Amino acid sequence: MNPGSLLDIASLSAQDIRSYLDLADKMDPLQPQTLLAGKRVILLFYEASTRTRISFELAAKALGATTILITAAASSIEKGESLLDTGYTLRALNADAIVMRHPSSGAPHTLSQHIDIPVINAGDGMHEHPSQGLLDARTILQHKKKLDGLRLTIVGDIFHSRVARSNAHLLTKMGAHVTFCGPPELCPSVAAKLVPNGSVRVTHDLEDGIRDADVVMLLRIQKERLEGMELRVQDYIDRFQMTRERLGWIKPDAIVMHPGPIVRGLELTSEVADHERAVILNQVHNGVPTRMAILARALGKA
Ligand code: NCD
Repeated sequence: MNPGSLLDIASLSAQDIRSYLDLADKMDPLQPQTLLAGKRVILLFYEASTRTRISFELAAKALGATTILITAAASSIEKGESLLDTGYTLRALNADAIVMRHPSSGAPHTLSQHIDIPVINAGDGMHEHPSQGLLDARTILQHKKKLDGLRLTIVGDIFHSRVARSNAHLLTKMGAHVTFCGPPELCPSVAAKLVPNGSVRVTHDLEDGIRDADVVMLLRIQKERLEGMELRVQDYIDRFQMTRERLGWIKPDAIVMHPGPIVRGLELTSEVADHERAVILNQVHNGVPTRMAILARALGKA
């Protein structure tokens, strides 16, 4: 595996996390650089994406790299080419780094074991989304100034969420207290065991989950991964949708986050999405400098 790879947060140390965040602070997307001039960054996306794909692309370009986007539709992936063969092909075309999103958990890890260039995980199935974890930490730091001792509650479809996993690993490594909140189908009690020796709490009651939180992070219901699962959407809305009234349950200085894409009228109302305490677009904004740091480090230019 190339040491520049970023596959998950679980295998990073607190020091690694800090160094990504410090490097992101030095990155200015509006000041184009030549740090990665001549480098070819391939964006290999087997799943839909808006924010992640565009911000990786803008990040690579802001550092002077060339980017090429490959999506599963309209490439040889559609013709049945395996992931490894696609990887070997990209390597033969002199790719310098691969940023990949894949519906199968562990796909970037597999690719990274067979290819000598950095592989960056842009979301693998229900496993991890490390760049999202890092940009969320940056956003929290901007509003709360610290992670240590902070209380963060993640509400919604924990079961299917790679964002919940990356955030829980990152925040507990940095000394924060994490609560998962949702109905048992989407937030099973076993989720408390996600972080080894970590302090993850699970609750199935929204008021209990968010009352003491400094940060409330809402998640989308991942309809594309619900196959075989009984979920009554109206029941979810009745018990867990974040509404303006329920915002009254949280601390006056708590912030509301969401990795996007948001579904207005489901996990949150429009009033909450547009509320001054929602920092959803700050998260999007932080995607570019964070991913500049990830790419600079991946290609040994940090
Ligand atoms: C998330 C993802 O794809 O994991 N979105 C994102 O990258 N910002 C969450 C989701 O799809 O709900």
